[in-house]
Amino acid sequence: MENSKNTSRRSFLTKSAIAAAGISLFKGFHFNTARAEVYSTPVFNGLLPEGGTFTLPALDYAYTALEPYIDARTMEIHHTKHHQTYVTKLNEALDKAPELKEKSLTDLITNINALPESVRQAVRNHGGGHFNHSMFWKLMSPDAANAKASDELAAAITAKWTSFDNFKAEFSKTATGVFGSGWAWLIVDKERNLSITTTPNQDCPVMDIAATRGRPILGIDVWEHAYYLKHQNKRADYIADFLNVIDWNQVSKWYAEK
Ligand SMILES: [Fe+2]
Repeated sequence: MENSKNTSRRSFLTKSAIAAAGISLFKGFHFNTARAEVYSTPVFNGLLPEGGTFTLPALDYAYTALEPYIDARTMEIHHTKHHQTYVTKLNEALDKAPELKEKSLTDLITNINALPESVRQAVRNHGGGHFNHSMFWKLMSPDAANAKASDELAAAITAKWTSFDNFKAEFSKTATGVFGSGWAWLIVDKERNLSITTTPNQDCPVMDIAATRGRPILGIDVWEHAYYLKHQNKRADYIADFLNVIDWNQVSKWYAEK
């Protein structure tokens, strides 16, 4: 038991250090439940409202940077309109429940069932949207061609899907098959098992209401707003293009977090 406590304490300190070293958007670190610790990452534990208000994170690259795979117009609208709307509506919801205003985004969305009913659906939709998109921008990179999965992650993927190509095929098939709007994810659970899962709308695997819970390390937005301008109805083409912009260095960092 003592070892377990020490391990937990070390884990807390490590996560605090990582969060403190993060970019200003993700500054701070805060969680209030063991569940949040299990299902979130240090980066996203740090998504705190600044002065009681959540803000749209800046991208680390230009809107044109993911061309030709993801077009600039889609990136700009997706970021400045769609993501901004989730942030705005999350803040509007929290205005109605001021007691929640200092909570981190992770605290809010890992405990959907504990939220007041008056704001529960809004936080689920818009808090989920803010979390999912904040992660989405981070897991893509214009330098993706030079990124690669860590040995640890590559071994885990190969062990589960026999090869990296098979994993990509399975992930693509799952993302293609999402009915309507939602996300496909690669998640890691408490036992370090990887799996591919999906969520509808802006739900996220960290949520206590998710059918399959886990800590996402990769996700693809398959709402039409993510691809319709360039790919129209050809979601499979968008998914194939997305595979070219995945920052496997970032995915590996998230996988390495324990
Ligand atoms: Fe989106």
